[in-house]
Amino acid sequence: MKVYTEKQQMAIAIDAFKEKKQTLGLVPTMGALHKGHLALVKKALKNNDKVVISIFVNPTQFDNKEDLVKYPRTLERDVELLSTLNEDAILVYAPTVDDIYGGNAVSETFDFDGLEFEMEGKFRTGHFDGVGTVVKRLFHIIKPNKAYFGEKDFQQLAIIKKLVEKHHIPVTIVPCPIYRESSGLAMSSRNSRLKPDYKEVAPFIYKTLETAKTLFGTKSANKVSKWVEKQFESHKLLKLEYFIIADISTLKTLKRKSNKKTYRAFIAVYADDIRLIDNIALN
Ligand code: PAJ
Repeated sequence: MKVYTEKQQMAIAIDAFKEKKQTLGLVPTMGALHKGHLALVKKALKNNDKVVISIFVNPTQFDNKEDLVKYPRTLERDVELLSTLNEDAILVYAPTVDDIYGGNAVSETFDFDGLEFEMEGKFRTGHFDGVGTVVKRLFHIIKPNKAYFGEKDFQQLAIIKKLVEKHHIPVTIVPCPIYRESSGLAMSSRNSRLKPDYKEVAPFIYKTLETAKTLFGTKSANKVSKWVEKQFESHKLLKLEYFIIADISTLKTLKRKSNKKTYRAFIAVYADDIRLIDNIALN
């Protein structure tokens, strides 16, 4: 399995695939790979001749310096994990910050029709400009036919769809379901930093989402939100940042239920200094 660190080298390999009319899938990641990432890679391998996995901790999407510094970096282990899959079809692109940003690691500014101002956008200033900037550059370098994104970051997925639509980028975005531990905890690279006490209580997040889903059958979004807030008020270790029920097309907080719309519940929680997010389909 080849590991590329420079876009020029990557471009040569990609041109060769394109010449042979081979289809190309892209799975953008920040590394510290887990089974959730691997599920995306496996799906991409099924649908494409070749798959590029990018591994790049993108500085411009971190609003919190400490989070960026502490973000796990495990390239050697990531490459080992990937080599357990179909090695011949896989390429890894693990660039330096300079290879992506050429000495000027700043974000472009995007208009995602308001999607960027909801939820994560309210709590992580500039985050989606950083994500948009790096994903647009990755699309430009790799030129994939299909790109795979997890519903774990549902707002990010919606924003990438918007990016592709508004910038006329010829790539199909393939959504992938959330992959969970047997406890229900959504897999995340940040989970590896959870201290044992926090790891033990973290499945409470998904349990609460499941109950919220049941309650949503008979109660208003506002009542469900109040109930969730109460569960966390009395929690010793987990701190709720937000719980929101939103329409999936606008990501705006639901005011009045409609049978014609599709809703999801979204949550962000602090376990110590580690921020965990999750979401669940409601109807
Ligand atoms: P990262 O957090 O590494 O996630 C890479 C991809 O894996 C994203 O599409 C994410 O939604 C998906 N993913 C993570 N955990 C998952 C899970 N438990 N189940 C299903 N999919 C999961 O998201 C990013 O990196 C970055 O923002 C990136 C898009 C690479 C841009 O820098």
